[in-house]
Amino acid sequence: MSKPSKLAHVVYMTRRYDEMLSWYKTVFEARVQYENPAFAFLTYDDEHHRFAFANMDMLNPNGTAADPPAGVGVNHVGYTFADVGELLETYARLKDAGITPYWRVHHGVTLSVYYRDPDGNRMEFQVDCCANADEAHTYMHSDAFAANPIGVEIDPDDLLTQYRSGVPAEQLMAMPAGPPAPIPPEHGLM
Ligand SMILES: [Fe+2]
Repeated sequence: MSKPSKLAHVVYMTRRYDEMLSWYKTVFEARVQYENPAFAFLTYDDEHHRFAFANMDMLNPNGTAADPPAGVGVNHVGYTFADVGELLETYARLKDAGITPYWRVHHGVTLSVYYRDPDGNRMEFQVDCCANADEAHTYMHSDAFAANPIGVEIDPDDLLTQYRSGVPAEQLMAMPAGPPAPIPPEHGLM
């Protein structure tokens, strides 16, 4: 079976946005890859983001830190697969086991499927669409990212069919055209 090739990142929901960013910059000597009032991506190595922070005071101003599902804490953990084929074959294996993703989205920097475990803990299985952190940094500062920072919905069944019929990885990983993907309620950010 295919396994993730690495643990990629952790996304935190917070209502102490500035304080959290400052703490992670200090403790991990992390640098900002991208930051706006609602979201920030930090890294400390060649990964394009090791940490992301969602500012819940912006995203859900009427909520409180204790409110599930839009409280604070870990939103999801991201795992990177070696290539798009391994990601899609894992999608197929899990689908056969009755486990299906609640969100299927091309983020520009990654092609991602999101799952929840039986307790509701979220995880992102992804394949990198950028060659390195610099390329991801460039994308996060592009007009395309500014126009749609969330991404575009994808159809993993369609991609799997294409993959199994020999369509090259670069083509499968190209970001599709389309409107910004709605963030599903299961994702807990709004
Ligand atoms: Fe993620």
